[in-house]
Amino acid sequence: AKRKPLVAGNWKMNFDHLEATYFVQKLAWLLRDARFNYRRCEVALFPSFTSLRSVQVLVEADKLHIKYGAQAVSVTNQGAFTGDISADMLAHLGCTYVIIGHSERRKYHPEDDANIVDQVRAVLAAGMRPILCVGESFEERRQGIELDFAVGQVRDVTRDLNEDEAAKLIVAYEPVWAIGTGMVATPDSAQDAAQAIRADLKETFQSKVADSVRILYGGSVTSKNAAELIAEPDVDGFLVGGASLDANEFAKICRIA
Ligand code: G3H
Repeated sequence: AKRKPLVAGNWKMNFDHLEATYFVQKLAWLLRDARFNYRRCEVALFPSFTSLRSVQVLVEADKLHIKYGAQAVSVTNQGAFTGDISADMLAHLGCTYVIIGHSERRKYHPEDDANIVDQVRAVLAAGMRPILCVGESFEERRQGIELDFAVGQVRDVTRDLNEDEAAKLIVAYEPVWAIGTGMVATPDSAQDAAQAIRADLKETFQSKVADSVRILYGGSVTSKNAAELIAEPDVDGFLVGGASLDANEFAKICRIA
Protein backbone atom coordinates (compact mmCIF):
# COMPACT_ATOMS: atom_id res chain seq x y z
CA ALA A 1 0.00 0.00 0.00
CA LYS A 2 1.07 3.59 -0.56
CA ARG A 3 0.04 4.43 2.96
CA LYS A 4 1.60 3.21 6.18
CA PRO A 5 -0.69 0.54 7.63
CA LEU A 6 -2.27 1.10 11.03
CA VAL A 7 -3.36 -1.80 13.22
CA ALA A 8 -5.64 -0.47 15.94
CA GLY A 9 -6.80 -2.63 18.83
CA ASN A 10 -10.12 -1.46 20.25
CA TRP A 11 -10.42 -3.18 23.60
CA LYS A 12 -13.92 -1.82 24.18
CA MET A 13 -14.96 -2.33 27.83
CA ASN A 14 -12.33 -4.96 28.65
CA PHE A 15 -9.19 -5.04 30.84
CA ASP A 16 -8.59 -3.08 34.02
CA HIS A 17 -5.38 -1.08 34.30
CA LEU A 18 -3.33 -4.03 35.58
CA GLU A 19 -4.45 -6.26 32.73
CA ALA A 20 -3.77 -3.40 30.32
CA THR A 21 -0.22 -2.99 31.63
CA TYR A 22 0.43 -6.71 31.35
CA PHE A 23 -0.92 -6.77 27.80
CA VAL A 24 1.24 -3.86 26.65
CA GLN A 25 4.38 -5.50 28.07
CA LYS A 26 3.54 -8.79 26.41
CA LEU A 27 2.78 -7.18 23.06
CA ALA A 28 6.01 -5.18 23.12
CA TRP A 29 7.88 -8.39 23.89
CA LEU A 30 6.14 -10.28 21.07
CA LEU A 31 7.03 -7.52 18.59
CA ARG A 32 10.53 -6.91 19.93
CA ASP A 33 12.52 -8.52 17.09
CA ALA A 34 14.02 -6.63 14.19
CA ARG A 35 11.66 -8.28 11.71
CA PHE A 36 8.82 -6.19 13.09
CA ASN A 37 9.37 -2.62 12.04
CA TYR A 38 7.18 -0.02 13.73
CA ARG A 39 8.27 2.47 11.10
CA ARG A 40 6.64 0.30 8.45
CA CYS A 41 3.46 -0.51 10.37
CA GLU A 42 1.87 1.56 13.13
CA VAL A 43 0.40 -0.20 16.15
CA ALA A 44 -2.14 1.53 18.39
CA LEU A 45 -4.17 0.36 21.37
CA PHE A 46 -7.44 1.76 22.67
CA PRO A 47 -7.81 0.93 26.36
CA SER A 48 -10.52 2.17 28.71
CA PHE A 49 -10.10 5.69 30.09
CA THR A 50 -9.08 4.15 33.41
CA SER A 51 -6.08 2.40 31.84
CA LEU A 52 -4.72 5.25 29.73
CA ARG A 53 -2.43 6.66 32.39
CA SER A 54 -0.91 3.24 33.13
CA VAL A 55 -0.33 2.66 29.42
CA GLN A 56 1.26 6.10 29.08
CA VAL A 57 3.67 5.50 31.98
CA LEU A 58 4.75 2.16 30.55
CA VAL A 59 5.13 3.41 26.97
CA GLU A 60 7.22 6.38 28.14
CA ALA A 61 9.35 4.42 30.64
CA ASP A 62 10.19 1.65 28.16
CA LYS A 63 10.25 3.98 25.11
CA LEU A 64 7.81 1.70 23.30
CA HIS A 65 6.72 2.53 19.78
CA ILE A 66 3.16 1.50 20.55
CA LYS A 67 0.66 4.35 20.21
CA TYR A 68 -2.60 4.62 22.07
CA GLY A 69 -5.80 6.56 22.27
CA ALA A 70 -9.33 6.70 23.63
CA GLN A 71 -12.57 5.10 22.47
CA ALA A 72 -14.68 8.27 22.70
CA VAL A 73 -14.45 11.89 23.84
CA SER A 74 -16.62 14.72 25.08
CA VAL A 75 -17.47 17.51 22.66
CA THR A 76 -16.91 20.19 25.30
CA ASN A 77 -13.67 21.51 26.73
CA GLN A 78 -14.41 21.60 30.42
CA GLY A 79 -17.09 22.43 32.91
CA ALA A 80 -20.20 20.93 34.43
CA PHE A 81 -20.42 17.72 32.40
CA THR A 82 -20.39 14.98 35.01
CA GLY A 83 -18.70 11.82 33.85
CA ASP A 84 -17.25 13.23 30.62
CA ILE A 85 -13.62 13.29 29.49
CA SER A 86 -12.30 16.17 27.38
CA ALA A 87 -10.00 16.03 24.37
CA ASP A 88 -7.36 18.07 26.22
CA MET A 89 -7.33 15.54 29.05
CA LEU A 90 -6.65 12.80 26.51
CA ALA A 91 -4.00 14.82 24.68
CA HIS A 92 -2.23 15.43 27.99
CA LEU A 93 -2.08 11.66 28.50
CA GLY A 94 -0.15 11.33 25.24
CA CYS A 95 -3.04 9.97 23.17
CA THR A 96 -2.37 10.03 19.43
CA TYR A 97 -5.82 8.95 18.25
CA VAL A 98 -9.44 8.91 19.37
CA ILE A 99 -12.03 6.51 17.96
CA ILE A 100 -15.18 8.43 17.04
CA GLY A 101 -18.65 7.26 16.11
CA HIS A 102 -18.13 3.56 16.72
CA SER A 103 -21.43 1.80 15.98
CA GLU A 104 -21.67 0.75 19.64
CA ARG A 105 -21.43 4.42 20.66
CA ARG A 106 -23.98 5.42 18.03
CA LYS A 107 -26.30 2.72 19.38
CA TYR A 108 -25.90 2.96 23.16
CA HIS A 109 -25.23 6.70 23.48
CA PRO A 110 -26.91 9.64 21.89
CA GLU A 111 -24.16 10.13 19.31
CA ASP A 112 -25.76 11.59 16.22
CA ASP A 113 -24.05 13.14 13.21
CA ALA A 114 -23.82 16.60 14.78
CA ASN A 115 -22.26 15.19 17.93
CA ILE A 116 -19.80 13.12 15.89
CA VAL A 117 -18.69 16.18 13.92
CA ASP A 118 -18.16 18.04 17.20
CA GLN A 119 -16.06 15.16 18.57
CA VAL A 120 -13.91 15.24 15.43
CA ARG A 121 -13.42 18.99 15.86
CA ALA A 122 -12.56 18.61 19.55
CA VAL A 123 -9.98 15.90 18.78
CA LEU A 124 -8.37 17.93 15.98
CA ALA A 125 -8.29 21.08 18.12
CA ALA A 126 -6.44 19.15 20.83
CA GLY A 127 -3.81 18.03 18.30
CA MET A 128 -4.88 14.38 18.06
CA ARG A 129 -6.25 12.43 15.11
CA PRO A 130 -9.80 11.08 14.82
CA ILE A 131 -10.55 7.54 13.67
CA LEU A 132 -14.04 7.96 12.27
CA CYS A 133 -16.08 4.74 12.22
CA VAL A 134 -18.71 4.23 9.55
CA GLY A 135 -20.52 1.25 8.08
CA GLU A 136 -23.90 -0.12 7.17
CA SER A 137 -26.11 -2.46 9.13
CA PHE A 138 -27.45 -5.68 7.66
CA GLU A 139 -30.63 -3.90 6.57
CA GLU A 140 -28.81 -1.39 4.35
CA ARG A 141 -26.76 -4.18 2.85
CA ARG A 142 -29.92 -6.16 2.12
CA GLN A 143 -31.27 -3.12 0.29
CA GLY A 144 -28.02 -2.80 -1.66
CA ILE A 145 -27.35 0.74 -0.42
CA GLU A 146 -24.31 -0.06 1.73
CA LEU A 147 -21.82 2.02 -0.24
CA ASP A 148 -24.02 5.13 -0.30
CA PHE A 149 -24.68 4.69 3.39
CA ALA A 150 -21.02 4.47 4.44
CA VAL A 151 -19.97 7.25 2.09
CA GLY A 152 -22.82 9.39 3.44
CA GLN A 153 -21.62 8.90 7.00
CA VAL A 154 -18.13 10.06 6.00
CA ARG A 155 -19.50 13.01 4.10
CA ASP A 156 -21.57 14.08 7.11
CA VAL A 157 -18.25 14.78 8.79
CA THR A 158 -16.03 15.87 5.91
CA ARG A 159 -18.44 18.55 4.70
CA ASP A 160 -17.46 20.51 7.81
CA LEU A 161 -13.69 20.04 7.43
CA ASN A 162 -11.07 21.95 5.49
CA GLU A 163 -8.21 20.26 3.60
CA ASP A 164 -5.77 20.39 6.50
CA GLU A 165 -8.30 18.87 8.88
CA ALA A 166 -9.34 16.17 6.41
CA ALA A 167 -5.71 15.17 5.95
CA LYS A 168 -5.58 14.22 9.64
CA LEU A 169 -8.63 11.97 9.44
CA ILE A 170 -8.55 8.19 9.52
CA VAL A 171 -11.66 6.32 8.45
CA ALA A 172 -12.61 2.87 9.73
CA TYR A 173 -15.10 1.04 7.56
CA GLU A 174 -16.91 -1.36 9.89
CA PRO A 175 -20.06 -3.00 8.61
CA VAL A 176 -22.22 -3.40 11.71
CA TRP A 177 -23.19 -6.99 10.77
CA ALA A 178 -19.50 -7.96 10.81
CA ILE A 179 -18.71 -6.61 14.29
CA GLY A 180 -18.19 -9.37 16.83
CA THR A 181 -20.09 -11.88 14.69
CA GLY A 182 -17.30 -13.83 13.02
CA MET A 183 -18.86 -12.81 9.68
CA VAL A 184 -15.99 -10.90 8.13
CA ALA A 185 -16.60 -8.87 4.97
CA THR A 186 -15.10 -10.37 1.83
CA PRO A 187 -11.91 -8.65 0.68
CA ASP A 188 -13.86 -7.48 -2.38
CA SER A 189 -16.57 -5.78 -0.37
CA ALA A 190 -14.05 -4.20 2.04
CA GLN A 191 -12.20 -2.86 -1.01
CA ASP A 192 -15.43 -1.63 -2.65
CA ALA A 193 -16.33 0.37 0.44
CA ALA A 194 -12.82 1.76 0.96
CA GLN A 195 -12.60 2.70 -2.70
CA ALA A 196 -16.01 4.40 -2.65
CA ILE A 197 -15.03 6.38 0.46
CA ARG A 198 -11.74 7.45 -1.13
CA ALA A 199 -13.47 8.40 -4.38
CA ASP A 200 -15.84 10.61 -2.43
CA LEU A 201 -12.94 12.23 -0.54
CA LYS A 202 -11.46 13.04 -3.96
CA GLU A 203 -14.61 14.90 -4.89
CA THR A 204 -14.40 17.06 -1.79
CA PHE A 205 -10.63 17.50 -1.37
CA GLN A 206 -7.46 17.47 -3.47
CA SER A 207 -6.29 14.03 -4.59
CA LYS A 208 -3.22 14.47 -2.42
CA VAL A 209 -5.44 14.56 0.66
CA ALA A 210 -7.74 11.74 -0.45
CA ASP A 211 -4.75 9.55 -1.30
CA SER A 212 -3.16 10.11 2.10
CA VAL A 213 -6.19 9.34 4.29
CA ARG A 214 -5.92 5.85 5.71
CA ILE A 215 -9.02 3.69 5.50
CA LEU A 216 -9.11 0.77 7.91
CA TYR A 217 -11.35 -2.26 7.80
CA GLY A 218 -13.02 -3.48 10.99
CA GLY A 219 -15.34 -6.39 11.76
CA SER A 220 -14.24 -9.89 12.82
CA VAL A 221 -10.62 -9.38 11.72
CA THR A 222 -8.35 -12.24 12.81
CA SER A 223 -4.90 -13.51 11.87
CA LYS A 224 -6.71 -15.91 9.50
CA ASN A 225 -8.36 -13.27 7.30
CA ALA A 226 -6.02 -10.26 7.73
CA ALA A 227 -3.66 -11.11 4.85
CA GLU A 228 -6.29 -11.15 2.11
CA LEU A 229 -7.91 -7.97 3.43
CA ILE A 230 -4.69 -5.96 3.63
CA ALA A 231 -3.81 -7.09 0.10
CA GLU A 232 -6.60 -4.82 -1.18
CA PRO A 233 -5.26 -1.52 -2.52
CA ASP A 234 -7.50 0.79 -0.50
CA VAL A 235 -7.46 -1.13 2.80
CA ASP A 236 -4.76 0.51 4.93
CA GLY A 237 -5.03 -1.45 8.15
CA PHE A 238 -7.50 -2.74 10.69
CA LEU A 239 -9.67 -1.77 13.62
CA VAL A 240 -9.61 -4.98 15.62
CA GLY A 241 -12.05 -5.76 18.44
CA GLY A 242 -12.21 -9.31 19.83
CA ALA A 243 -8.87 -10.42 18.36
CA SER A 244 -7.12 -7.45 20.02
CA LEU A 245 -7.75 -8.99 23.46
CA ASP A 246 -5.24 -11.77 22.82
CA ALA A 247 -1.69 -10.45 22.59
CA ASN A 248 -0.44 -13.38 20.48
CA GLU A 249 -3.27 -13.04 18.00
CA PHE A 250 -2.97 -9.25 17.86
CA ALA A 251 0.79 -9.44 17.33
CA LYS A 252 0.21 -11.85 14.44
CA ILE A 253 -2.18 -9.38 12.81
CA CYS A 254 0.41 -6.60 13.23
CA ARG A 255 3.01 -8.74 11.46
CA ILE A 256 0.63 -9.53 8.62
CA ALA A 257 -0.18 -5.85 8.07
O1 G3H B 1 -13.74 -1.65 16.83
C1 G3H B 1 -13.70 -2.83 16.48
C2 G3H B 1 -14.81 -3.43 15.80
O2 G3H B 1 -16.01 -3.14 16.41
C3 G3H B 1 -14.62 -4.86 15.42
O3 G3H B 1 -14.90 -5.74 16.47
O4 G3H B 1 -13.19 -7.39 15.73
O5 G3H B 1 -14.76 -7.92 17.60
O6 G3H B 1 -15.58 -7.79 15.24
P1 G3H B 1 -14.59 -7.29 16.26
